[in-house]
Amino acid sequence: MTSSPTILVFDSGLGGLTVLREVVAARPDAHYVYVADDAFFPYGHHDEDEIIARVVPLMGELIAAHDPGLVVIACNTASTLVLSHLRAVYSVPFVGTVPAIKPACAQSKTRRVSVLGTKGTVKREYTRALIRDFSQGCEVTLVGSPELASLAERALSGQAISDRDILTELSPCFVGDPDDAAARTDTVVLACTHYPLLLDRLKTLAPWPVDWIDPAPAIARRVSDLLGPPASGPAEAGAEMIFTSRRTHALGPALTPFFGGRLPA
Ligand code: DGL
Repeated sequence: MTSSPTILVFDSGLGGLTVLREVVAARPDAHYVYVADDAFFPYGHHDEDEIIARVVPLMGELIAAHDPGLVVIACNTASTLVLSHLRAVYSVPFVGTVPAIKPACAQSKTRRVSVLGTKGTVKREYTRALIRDFSQGCEVTLVGSPELASLAERALSGQAISDRDILTELSPCFVGDPDDAAARTDTVVLACTHYPLLLDRLKTLAPWPVDWIDPAPAIARRVSDLLGPPASGPAEAGAEMIFTSRRTHALGPALTPFFGGRLPA
């Protein structure tokens, strides 16, 4: 047996599972520790100072406990704020998740792009700088959603979520003339890792078809590049799931697809 690298994937809740699933597909040789900081969820409702004061010391405890070879911050609300702080304090490599504004603007034909994120993410200077640097002349609409991450958590936990509740959060993304495909939004950036959990519902409820940009595959490629080629020989890889609230989850079979078929301990 070769020893496999440990990848720690961190989010405020279950949204980071949408990043995890791509990373696991790219690197099945790794051992995974998924941490949901659900005791502090939702991050989108906290002030910037509170998130920094929460995440930086918590990450120190997690690194000490799990000795990861790499950490993925699978949360836009945290990455757009704490990545620089984490890199200043800890030597482990961090891969963040930030709004995919550059590829979205590069591919938009109508030059109208919407960025759907938490209220925290759309307020961040980091996000505004991405627009300044990479909008490439597109009109970018920032949509701060107060509730969509919580709705996605509830949906994954098996609760019924109404179309109306989702549409309230989604509608502001659709800008321009609904009857003119050349003069309306054609690209929506999913700038919160929770939202791909609802992608089928978002597609069904959208007033017109758009391209939905999920950065998870690009993050998985970056992780794989940083890790280098997998060690040869069978790896000793498993998966663990940790909730900071210490709750035990009742999601077993619903979670295994995100872990590449492994049942997390
Ligand atoms: N999953 C997180 C993100 O990507 C946000 C959810 C929250 O508000 O905690 O932004």
